[in-house]
Amino acid sequence: MDYKKVVAQRIKQLVDLDIEIIEGLIEIPPKPEMGDFAFPCFQLSKTMKKAPNAIANDLKEKIDGEKNLNGGFEKIECFGPYLNFFLDKGVFIKNTVEKILAEGESYGSSKMGEGKNIVVEYSSPNIAKPFHVGHLFTTVIGSSLYKILSFEGYNCTGINHLGDWGTQFGKLIYAYKNWVDEEALTKEPIKELLRIYVKFHDEADIDPTLNEQAKMYFKNLEDGSAEEVRLWTKFRDISLIEFKKLYDTLNVKFDSYAGESFYCDKMDDVIKDIEDKGLLVESNGAKVVMLDEYNMPPCIIKKSDGATIYATRDLAAATYRKKTYDFYKNIYVVGKDQSLHFNQVFTTLKLMGNKWADDCKHVAFGTVRFADKKLSTRKGDVIFLDELLNQAVAKTLEIINLKNPDLENKEDVAKKVGIGAIIFTYLKNGRERDIVFNWEEMLSFDGETGPYVQYTYARAKSILRKVEENSNKPANDVVLDYNKLNSKEEFELVKQLEGFQNSILHAIDKLEPSMVTRYAIEVAKAFNKFYNQHNIANLEDESNKQAKIKMVEATCQVIKNALNLIGIEVVDRM
Ligand code: ARG
Repeated sequence: MDYKKVVAQRIKQLVDLDIEIIEGLIEIPPKPEMGDFAFPCFQLSKTMKKAPNAIANDLKEKIDGEKNLNGGFEKIECFGPYLNFFLDKGVFIKNTVEKILAEGESYGSSKMGEGKNIVVEYSSPNIAKPFHVGHLFTTVIGSSLYKILSFEGYNCTGINHLGDWGTQFGKLIYAYKNWVDEEALTKEPIKELLRIYVKFHDEADIDPTLNEQAKMYFKNLEDGSAEEVRLWTKFRDISLIEFKKLYDTLNVKFDSYAGESFYCDKMDDVIKDIEDKGLLVESNGAKVVMLDEYNMPPCIIKKSDGATIYATRDLAAATYRKKTYDFYKNIYVVGKDQSLHFNQVFTTLKLMGNKWADDCKHVAFGTVRFADKKLSTRKGDVIFLDELLNQAVAKTLEIINLKNPDLENKEDVAKKVGIGAIIFTYLKNGRERDIVFNWEEMLSFDGETGPYVQYTYARAKSILRKVEENSNKPANDVVLDYNKLNSKEEFELVKQLEGFQNSILHAIDKLEPSMVTRYAIEVAKAFNKFYNQHNIANLEDESNKQAKIKMVEATCQVIKNALNLIGIEVVDRM
């Protein structure tokens, strides 16, 4: 039941305001002693020509007789100009817990997005270059948005827009032909490709003619010359094998790997379209779309040597996506340093007369740094992700060895918790904020971390195991009494559980998975407050005990569903 709606609907019958306005006015009181919803009467004062306090009193008198409004409320009170509603705790807790347990894994989901297609582009690493911490950022945000949107019924298509085309392939072909160590390439392909790519830049600084040769190789590649295409395919294939290992570890999936190269044969149409619309102008030998009017530098469509670039491929990609997926929203999860690029692309699409350009959204994110210097000063200034993930797992294993040395499946738990800790760190704050990775902080079992939430889940599970082991009576014989869950901690916990879907809707509205991450932290906090005050295992009163058990089960379900949406698996023991 949507209690806020119930309140709003009842008030609507009494006052002359639209239901949306009433809903917008309803507040959550600052203290639990003041109830669960408050309706301020200030706004009515003008039209009703009465003091807000008096209006609140009038309203209370009118509703008071039927105080439970569909059985959901215990009482209504006036606090000055506010009309405050108190939920009937027993009924509320019963309804919420039973709903969660009945709906299980789908609790929090809806059909809200039914019939709407959303394209989510994320990860999009560059072939033959390492996958860096920024790519991990887009990967976890995008994958989470995909899960969140799908959970609410949207039909999502996840696209990995691989950086598999562009002049850098000319450089790489040159470097490969001159410096590759085939043995190293087999053993650690991305590292070797990076080594020779970095070498290319060093050498080209000394001898700039290398750039001319690289250009020629890329031109050959664009023209379909067999040797260059063979090498390009090789680079792409070995890089993809590596990337896919990482996606498997992170449990991230894509519906399409159509990268930049996929649009090679689709660019001419777009360029022609731009030209037909009279938008293409010549500038220093290049072909561009002028964006002065929008205070932006021109969007370059073709370079002076005739080669197309990044932006051209994005124009073709967006057009293709509209045609293929008929999207309602087309989302790009890409670092905020590319904001100008997307602004140029979207504006150009709009100038071309595509109304749907407004449905294209750049979901930007900040930068990532490491508090631990060692990780950030490798040659080539890159952090290898496999090393990062391995370290997270190894460090988590150390902690488990200290805290719970007898745990079974330690490695598996360390993997879920360690990798979960990294994902959690990425998704904990608003995505545009920069992140500083700090091992100690992110692996801590208390504080706002992944391990903390996972540990809370494992704790809750252990209560359930303990009670089950010690009970001699089948739980089914006991009549549950939710009215006995009348402590502040219990009510606050269940209120949190009830707010799950709301957090998801906020996350969708802002395209911010952090709304769900923060929600998971709040549930964990509320549960721990309860856990510290109440001992379930020793309770004599079976009807109270069983009700508490159900509430703990419901808590586990909600934490599991929430973590799932951000791409983290729970563990029963840790
Ligand atoms: N490959 C690019 C990079 O690593 C990101 C691609 C972003 N997506 C796009 N449609 N332009 O920086």
